[in-house]
Amino acid sequence: MVTRTLVIIPTYNERDSLPGQVDAVRAAVPDADILVVDDASPDGTGRWADARAAEDGQVSVLHRPGKQGLGAAYLAGFAWGLERGYDVLVEMDADGSHRAEDLPRVLGAPGSWDLAIGSRWIPGGAVENWPAHRRLLSTGANTYVRLMLGVPIHDATAGFRAYRADALRSLDLAGVESQGYCFQVDMAWRVVKDGGTVVEVPITFVEREQGQSKMSGAIIREALVKVTAWGMKERATQMRRAFGGGSR
Ligand code: GDD
Ligand code: MN
Repeated sequence: MVTRTLVIIPTYNERDSLPGQVDAVRAAVPDADILVVDDASPDGTGRWADARAAEDGQVSVLHRPGKQGLGAAYLAGFAWGLERGYDVLVEMDADGSHRAEDLPRVLGAPGSWDLAIGSRWIPGGAVENWPAHRRLLSTGANTYVRLMLGVPIHDATAGFRAYRADALRSLDLAGVESQGYCFQVDMAWRVVKDGGTVVEVPITFVEREQGQSKMSGAIIREALVKVTAWGMKERATQMRRAFGGGSR
């Protein structure tokens, strides 16, 4: 059976970057369809995407009324793709940081996986052109996530990943509240707790040349607060199981 793959690209003010990324993805995986999820970008990204979709039947656009965060954009994209029966749903940034040439290797990850992560922080993975503070933020965040949540993943914040549609269907997506980049951690953790198989494939992340990162203090705070709260809750549950008697 043919595997139907949908590459979801969330955009906010990516008019300069998106065309190159769409071309690169179409060339690297010609059979995959693309869904751009645009949050009413003031720079006209959504209009460009509409024009592209009119020329190319494998490109679609989902318009949202305003900037509502990466998590909300991906959830809308997942719902769109699941409704249409895709087998694999891919997350990729618009800014070229996730190289389309790495996508076939992520999709071809060995074994039967539920989530295949394009990982910067395993042997063979790399980051190009990131300042020291961004590296530290990412490695620090990933170490904290491993300690707090006990997930055996080296790049849980990665935004380059592929989900098996059935794995997404078995999660409570309506319960996902994360808005910013901690959405990635939230989702990875849900797959692990659901008994899903997560694999990491080394990729090279290349910092964008055009436009700006949407990373902000609010996004970092949301991640820190949420990961800490999830970790505390998990510990409390473990303690109850260990000492609480009663049901196991
Ligand atoms: N629709 C929509 N709405 N798209 C958004 C929003 C939003 O509110 N915020 C960001 N995006 C889009 C951007 O336009 C881009 O295509 C992608 O999401 C990633 O945003 P960047 O702002 O370029 O992220 P980054 O390079 O700082 O962060 C990268 O690393 C993070 C931490 O490891 C990304 O790969 C993140 O996914 C990752 O979590
Ligand atoms: Mn980026």
